[in-house]
Amino acid sequence: MLFPLIKEILAFPADSRELSVRGWVRTRRELKNLVFVEVNDGSSLAGLQCTFDRSAELPGDTRIVCALNRAGTGASVEIRGRLVPSPASGQAVELAAEHLRIIGEAPAESYPLQKKRHSLEFLREIAHLRVRTNTFGAVARVRNCLAFAIHRYFQDRGFVYVHTPIITANDAEGAGAMFQVSALNLAEPAKTGKAPDFSRDFFGRPAYLTVSGQLEAETYAAALSRVYTFGPTFRAEHSNTARHLAEFWMVEPEFAFAELEDDMDLAEDFLKTILRAALENNRADLDFFEARIEKGIIQNLEKVADSRFARISYTDAVAELERAAASGAADFEFKPAWGCDLQSEHEKFLTEKIAGGPVIVTEYPREIKAFYMKMNDDEKTVRAMDVLVPRLGEIIGGSQREDRLDRLENRMRALGMDVEQYYWYLDLRRYGSVPHAGFGLGFERLVQYVTGMANIRDVIPYPRAEGQADF
Ligand code: 4AD
Ligand code: MG
Repeated sequence: MLFPLIKEILAFPADSRELSVRGWVRTRRELKNLVFVEVNDGSSLAGLQCTFDRSAELPGDTRIVCALNRAGTGASVEIRGRLVPSPASGQAVELAAEHLRIIGEAPAESYPLQKKRHSLEFLREIAHLRVRTNTFGAVARVRNCLAFAIHRYFQDRGFVYVHTPIITANDAEGAGAMFQVSALNLAEPAKTGKAPDFSRDFFGRPAYLTVSGQLEAETYAAALSRVYTFGPTFRAEHSNTARHLAEFWMVEPEFAFAELEDDMDLAEDFLKTILRAALENNRADLDFFEARIEKGIIQNLEKVADSRFARISYTDAVAELERAAASGAADFEFKPAWGCDLQSEHEKFLTEKIAGGPVIVTEYPREIKAFYMKMNDDEKTVRAMDVLVPRLGEIIGGSQREDRLDRLENRMRALGMDVEQYYWYLDLRRYGSVPHAGFGLGFERLVQYVTGMANIRDVIPYPRAEGQADF
């Protein structure tokens, strides 16, 4: 049987009903004969205050007095009592406690989470315990809410959830930043000096962890019309930044009979709908982020949820950046130039200074984008779109896909790709090809955007980054 969680208890009327609460002690304070124990079970930011009256209600009950001494920060407890109106401000009810059972002690000499503010850096070293803090509990709840809202968004619109493979032989982004998966004893070739023979490996060929489920999602969209993936992806990029992980979760809708405009419209509506869901369902946690992490975040999310995203072509964006650099309005470390990728400082300027909010940049040069994007008639740009947001830069990357067999093959050959290996992907263009489009949302970047957490390592339970795979 499930017992009520604290978030449910806090919504009960203060009708003296008897109930038990189970959770972990956050704080214990004493005031004359009263002992206040705040218990948190992670179901909400707020805990339940349990008040023990040593003089009146627990006369001579030495077991409880002893137990109270052991109910320090971090201990797990079960407390029984009656739910009564709370005289304290900020809480409607509290538990007039009558019984206390210590389930597991947390000795104060060694428990690392004492009642003081710890730095996020320190908490990263104790990632198995940091979720017991207000900040990481709130991040976990917001992350959960966002994941659920994403599924609901697509389910409500006829998108079918597909599970694309984690282990793959193809480099979907063509960026060569893949982790190889092998069952060979790699110490062997190192000893013998002979190169490993991957034909004798588990899969009979080199295999990797996927960087994106897109290519396989396209095959399903070419039959089910609307699909999406939501799963882990892996990149062995040496980007040691506050917005890159080696293992991150990506949401990738892919839909048939759709062009670039449809893709942009979907991305914008999707993002706004998800933001609204977070604002509606996680208000207490967002209030916490507003107070402790990023001032103004709620108002900003509300504004964005009701705004119309700016849209600008890459060519116009670069022109704006060049103008800003020339006039002295911006002082860029990297000079903006057509044909170069936008740097974070450029993305920052576009969103914060030019658009004053999210901006969708379209029609990038083909050289800086993946092989599968549909070529424009100018033969120089592709039907790409990136959604950039203030503070973070790119949160979504997507495109209309090249649906013409000859164009796609030519592009792959020009990039030196093994066209034979992608026969199945090309088959989509051979048989019943349709215009189709999709995008990828970096889920952790969304969590960062909504919570205001500055470092991506603080919005995933156990971050994997270069030199870091603890826990
Ligand atoms: O722009 P990307 O590389 O696009 C793709 O992978 C496409 N296959 C998506 C598609 O069209 N179906 O990645 C998509 C998003 C980025 O916009 C970013 O938010 C996030 O994934 N992302 C990362 N997030 C955390 N750490 C990393 N190393 C990331 N690389 C990309
Ligand atoms: Mg991208």
